[in-house]
Amino acid sequence: MTPIAKKAWLVGGAAAVLGGAVLTATALSDRAAGDRRETLSQPVTPALVARGAYVARLADCAACHSVPDRPDYSGGLAMALPIGRVMTSNITPDKTYGIGGWSFGDFDRAVRYGVNRRDQSLYPAMPYVAYARMSRADTEALYAYFSAGVAPAATPAPRNEILFPLSMRFPLTLWRWLFAKAPEAIAPPSAADPAVARGAYIVEGPGHCGDCHTPRGFALQVKARSAAEGPAFLAGASIDGWSAPSLRAGGQGGLGDWTSQDIADFLRHGGNARGAAFGAMAPAIEHGTARLTPGDAEAIGRFLKSLPKPPGRAFAYDAAEARRLKAGELSSPGAQAYLDNCAACHRSDGRGYSGVFPPLAGNPAVVDERAESIVRIALFGGQTPLTPSSPAQFSMPGFADRLDDREMAQLLTYVRTSWGNQARPVSRGEVARGRRASAGR
Ligand code: HEC
Ligand code: HEC
Ligand code: HEC
Repeated sequence: MTPIAKKAWLVGGAAAVLGGAVLTATALSDRAAGDRRETLSQPVTPALVARGAYVARLADCAACHSVPDRPDYSGGLAMALPIGRVMTSNITPDKTYGIGGWSFGDFDRAVRYGVNRRDQSLYPAMPYVAYARMSRADTEALYAYFSAGVAPAATPAPRNEILFPLSMRFPLTLWRWLFAKAPEAIAPPSAADPAVARGAYIVEGPGHCGDCHTPRGFALQVKARSAAEGPAFLAGASIDGWSAPSLRAGGQGGLGDWTSQDIADFLRHGGNARGAAFGAMAPAIEHGTARLTPGDAEAIGRFLKSLPKPPGRAFAYDAAEARRLKAGELSSPGAQAYLDNCAACHRSDGRGYSGVFPPLAGNPAVVDERAESIVRIALFGGQTPLTPSSPAQFSMPGFADRLDDREMAQLLTYVRTSWGNQARPVSRGEVARGRRASAGR
């Protein structure tokens, strides 16, 4: 299922090391754990349930709690940690196996504070650090949806595969104290433009975009939880063998010269005139952002465009290489391999076919500093996401069997330096690593 599942949550390991120090601290009162006596401030109406269904889309709960061949939201997705595998929980309203008996306070504590009903801290594979930024109004709607809008499923989630003593949860409490913030302490994002403020709210809160797009520190905590915490926020990171690129960088990388409409199209339709979604972003779109209202998608675009960007040279299309290729003047071995293997779809001018095959010229994924995404898609292929607005899927074949490491490195270096693209070369070693890393998947 979703690649985030296999993400290396070293957190557990790092937290275990810190664990001893916490033994005494755990005795202290846990102010950041919320209050289970909290109740809904409003009756559960169909309108509230419908709102909750939308918030569940924004927050992509299904990405982790729904697994093929099991009832919706009954959990069972295995997420790999260095110390074993944690399973996502059954969050249907079943009284025995799900959260049917939970009060609003219990639910809110799990979602925004990272504490379960037995007062244990949750693994941050559950994105409560970002969800802490959600408004109480939205968690109330979510609670209504998970109580009255989801069918109960009497299906137990499988047990975690983490051996004692690593399975003890108290180290996670220290981790939570260090790296999570209590919801009350979080000021709602404010901006003069209400669309930008709405976009900030979605991206920093329910959308948990930083879980993949923000680099992590020594204990795998995100280096910044919000735009206010500095330029590390959404600065790009590796996730499970894919690069989730910077959503702020200037110049050719990151969102470069995308407009807020380009960003909105990408999120709702799975692609735009400048690129197609693939890898770990494809499920995030299929389960989540494809169902955003046009206004919310545009708000995300407006917010991302408002982030300060490092300087960089913008992309300018250079037609000379396309002319050389058409004339058969091959500037490098990579150019020949490109003509033989890629030009049928991405064309000799690198511009692809709009809406079908993405351009490689001026595509931020192609010139990303971390080349792992393009190495992986070139080796193993990909498929555009399936969304309500773009129900036709287009595939790219993999070339792992056709090109060896050296040929692939030359080819990708060619793609990254042609038609105006300016990125560092790809090495043989990177291709070899991409091959090895994906062999085990
Ligand atoms: C990126 C994956 C991921 C996403 C997205 C996610 N969860 Fe979770 N969730 C988990 C994992 C993993 C656990 C189990 C953590 C543990 O055992 O420590 C969990 C646990 C929970 C629990 C605690 C259940 C229990 O029995 O203790 C609740 C409640 C919950 N999630 C609700 C939600 C809701 C509601 C959403 C959407 C707003 C959501 N989750 C989104 C991964 C995720
Ligand atoms: C049969 C048509 C086809 C061929 C041949 C092909 N591609 Fe693709 N390519 C696609 C499609 C479709 C996508 C979008 C895949 C997705 O979204 O998962 C894509 C995506 C990509 C991407 C990611 C860019 C993005 O925005 O999605 C890169 C990089 C790429 N191709 C490189 C290559 C290279 C290098 C070759 C030759 C070795 C090649 N492709 C051959 C169809 C093709
Ligand atoms: C599960 C991990 C994950 C989550 C969550 C996630 N992304 Fe991504 N995202 C990726 C990966 C991997 C890529 C690179 C592949 C691609 O371009 O489709 C990507 C690509 C993108 C791109 C294209 C960037 C480019 O330079 O081509 C945009 C825009 C984007 N994400 C926005 C978002 C937003 C907004 C959110 C939150 C609503 C989000 N992402 C949440 C993993 C994720």
